[in-house]
Amino acid sequence: MREYDLIADWYASERIDQTGIPETIALASSIPPGSRILDIGCGNGIPITRALLRAGHLVIGLDSSSAMLERFRNNCPEAPVIRGVVEACPFADRAFDAAIAWGVMFHLSCQDQIRAIASVSRVLKIGAPFLFTSGDADDFEGKEGVMNSVAFRYFSFSIENYRRILGDHGFTLTDVHEDKASNTYYAAIKTFEI
Ligand SMILES: C[S@@+](CC[C@H](N)C(=O)[O-])C[C@H]1O[C@@H](n2cnc3c(N)ncnc32)[C@H](O)[C@@H]1O
Repeated sequence: MREYDLIADWYASERIDQTGIPETIALASSIPPGSRILDIGCGNGIPITRALLRAGHLVIGLDSSSAMLERFRNNCPEAPVIRGVVEACPFADRAFDAAIAWGVMFHLSCQDQIRAIASVSRVLKIGAPFLFTSGDADDFEGKEGVMNSVAFRYFSFSIENYRRILGDHGFTLTDVHEDKASNTYYAAIKTFEI
C-alpha cells in the first residue's frame, strides 16, 4: 500500500521490538523444518521473516509496498519476495505449508479481508496453520490512525465473525489471544478445501 512507501524509514526505526515473535516461533515449531511459509505483508522482514528463517524454514515474502520490499531484500536476501496484494495471492493452489500476516489484515476493508482469507486458503495445503493479527470488534467503517503524519484506516471483524468467515473458507480457528500491545492473534488451521 502506498502509505507504507511514505513511512518505510520511520517504520524500520520503530519496529525494533519483538512483538509477535513468541507467536511466530510457536507457529514455526509446529511444522517440520524446511516448510514453505508465506509471510504476508512481510514489510522489511524484521523481525518476523528473520525469525522464520532462523527457525530453518523457507520463507516467501509478499507485500504491496515497494519501499518496504527494498529494505526486505537487504535484510533477508535469502528469501524470495514478491510485490502483490494478499487479496489476490500470486501463487499456485496449495503452494504453502503455513502463512502468517502480522499487522496487515486490519489495513484492508472488511470485504477485502474476506477476499484475503479466501486467497490465503487457496494457497495453503490442508493442515497448514494460518496466523494473523487484527482487532477483536466489528468495525466496518474503519478507525483513522496516524503513523509518522501519514493517515491509515483500521478495520476489523469481531472474534465470532472471524471464526465464521474462517470457517466459510476452510479454516478452523484454534486460538485467539491478545498481546501486551493489544494486537489480537488469530491462529487457524486449514482443515478443508472450499
Ligand atoms: C504494519 S506493517 C507489518 C510489517 C511486518 N509484518 C512486521 O511484522 O513488521 C504492514 C505491512 O503490510 C503491507 N500491506 C498492506 N496492505 C497489504 C496488502 N493488501 N497485501 C500485502 N501487503 C500489504 C504494508 O505494505 C506493510 O509492509
